[in-house]
Amino acid sequence: DEGLHSPSYPWPHNGPFSTFDHASIRRGYQVYREVCSACHSLDRIAWRNLVGVSHTEDEVKTMAEEFEYSDGPNDEGEYFQRPGKLSDHMPRPYPNEEAARAGNGGALPPDLSLMIKARHGGADYVFSLLTGYFDPPAGVEIREGLNYNPYFPGGAISMARLLFDGVVEYDDGTPATTSQMAKDVTTFLAWAAEPEHDDRKKMGVKAIIILSVMTILSIWIKRNRWSPLK
Ligand code: HEM
Repeated sequence: DEGLHSPSYPWPHNGPFSTFDHASIRRGYQVYREVCSACHSLDRIAWRNLVGVSHTEDEVKTMAEEFEYSDGPNDEGEYFQRPGKLSDHMPRPYPNEEAARAGNGGALPPDLSLMIKARHGGADYVFSLLTGYFDPPAGVEIREGLNYNPYFPGGAISMARLLFDGVVEYDDGTPATTSQMAKDVTTFLAWAAEPEHDDRKKMGVKAIIILSVMTILSIWIKRNRWSPLK
């Protein structure tokens, strides 16, 4: 049973030459941190990946230091706890799958690193899912512990609705409506799934400029060379 097909939204980063909305990535990180990271890991992203994308180096260092990481063994063969640093990856909410399932009524909150690439519909799907909690239509029975969401394949998801107006307070003053937070966290996850996206598009623009100049130049040289023979 496939879920309801999500509408396609005009994501600012969709154009062939357009880059991510970095202010939105920053707000989306905040939503991930304050809401989603209670249950979802983001294994492929290291703190340093945020530097120059959504935050300054100093900001990211401070953010990383707020988490404790296990490390070792040191020279004495001991394991120890230390504050996070730029090279550490995002901390996980649960030590293992058993603990994750135990905390979620048996369901497993998937790692979100590649979610935007993994699901049919990508960013449109994740946005629709996060904003797609409704009362079930008449005649539809939802099992205890599940939530009606027509975008989720099967229509019943174990993740409850989490985004409600004002659950975060943005430091840039953007009103944190449900749809704003869904948009921002989806943009953040789209970036996380493809951190090289902006560089790739900028390289593309450079390549087009260089190739155009070379083409024009070679046409001009060819005309010049052959002009005495005409
Ligand atoms: C599943 C996103 C917060 C628990 C999912 C899925 C996504 C997602 C994209 C996958 C749906 C699919 O398989 O197609 C998010 C985002 C969050 C968030 C962006 C923050 C805004 C949370 C929180 C919890 C949670 C806080 C725990 C209280 C789960 C569980 C599943 C899930 C248990 C598996 C659902 C199932 O298979 O029935 N989430 N989530 N999520 N999430 Fe979240």
